[in-house]
Amino acid sequence: MRILVTGGAGFIGSNFVIENARRPGVNITVLDALTYAGSPASLSSVSDQVSLVVGDIADARLVHDLVSKCDAVVHFAAESHNDNSLADPSPFVQTNIVGTYTLLEAVRAYGVRYHHVSTDEVFGDLELDDPAKFTEHTAYNPSSPYSSTKAASDMLVRAWARSFGVRATLSNCSNNYGPYQHIEKFIPRQITNILTGVRPKLYGAGRNVRDWIHVDDHNSAVWRILDSGEIGRTYLIGADGELDNLSVIRMILELMGRDPHDFDHVTDRAGHDLRYAIDSSTLRDELGWHPRYTNFREGLQATIDWYRDNHGWWENDKDAVEARYQAQGA
Ligand code: NAD
Ligand code: DAU
Repeated sequence: MRILVTGGAGFIGSNFVIENARRPGVNITVLDALTYAGSPASLSSVSDQVSLVVGDIADARLVHDLVSKCDAVVHFAAESHNDNSLADPSPFVQTNIVGTYTLLEAVRAYGVRYHHVSTDEVFGDLELDDPAKFTEHTAYNPSSPYSSTKAASDMLVRAWARSFGVRATLSNCSNNYGPYQHIEKFIPRQITNILTGVRPKLYGAGRNVRDWIHVDDHNSAVWRILDSGEIGRTYLIGADGELDNLSVIRMILELMGRDPHDFDHVTDRAGHDLRYAIDSSTLRDELGWHPRYTNFREGLQATIDWYRDNHGWWENDKDAVEARYQAQGA
């Protein structure tokens, strides 16, 4: 199977490519614009097995050429950071909506199988004490420019599947952690702060809850859906990993041998979603998927070790990322 992986030089996409590049009978091409969030270094361990095409998913001519030569597209490419979407929504509209539209037109033209990687943020947020979790039937209610553009892209996929018979599946996953995540994101920001002598930064009181899943578990679910998912269906991916941000920051400090109170409270994010929680029982019951990383503490320790052992992958970006946050009071 020839698979075109968009965004394969980003966090989740590169882990997906590394995991699947050596599968027998699988040939992977990565299409990635190498924005600030993409790095060819993330693919160095599989550079012999994978071709990397540097380009934009909104470039229709390039996309049609690549899609015409593949059997399936797995679409990870996106502008993915909420804080950036508050500073400037425009690349989010362009990549997440126009880029997805461009891919859909190409898979429609060539009859190519398509899997769309989306987020639980399309459902908005939950109260802390709400017994319900997000399911495939939860209504869309996105809060940020990022999540609203992801919601728009999901709607395009559903429309292209129904109106044009595109062979599409969708997945909405919760917060990922693991190696190769950009250091602007919560967990790697705090780990690399501690490694560079900067105090970790917690937005507001840190009551916000995220439902953490290891990136390898997200990707094993994406593969299972690509392989056995029902065309036209949406699957929710989660590993029952709900934790508030305060607990996560204290756990990172403790695992790195620091005082768990040694962090700063900084300006909260505008419109900050309170809680996400995923009910992944459809995926588990119908497709037999289960997460491997069920102990968050162990997964977090392995992630800390990875950032400690791979300074070269992130250290050139660190000062600029922190300067940007400091300018926002975060
Ligand atoms: P990321 O920001 O780490 O990587 C995005 C990649 O897309 C980068 O390599 C970037 O260069 C590339 N890209 C951006 N614009 C492009 C364009 N116009 N053309 C081609 N490539 C472009 O993102 P991530 O965290 O790996 O997320 C991947 C996908 O998973 C996204 O669709 C995101 O919405 C979704 N998702 C992320 C999480 C999470 O916790 N990170 C959770 C659920 C879903
Ligand atoms: O839920 C899935 C989503 O998870 C994905 O769709 C997004 O692409 C991904 O970025 C992530 O979004 P979040 O906004 O939840 O992730 P982020 O890492 O930016 O923040 C996680 C939580 O930590 C959030 O409540 C904000 C908080 N935070 C973040 C940073 C960067 C802090 O307290 N301090 C920080 O320095």
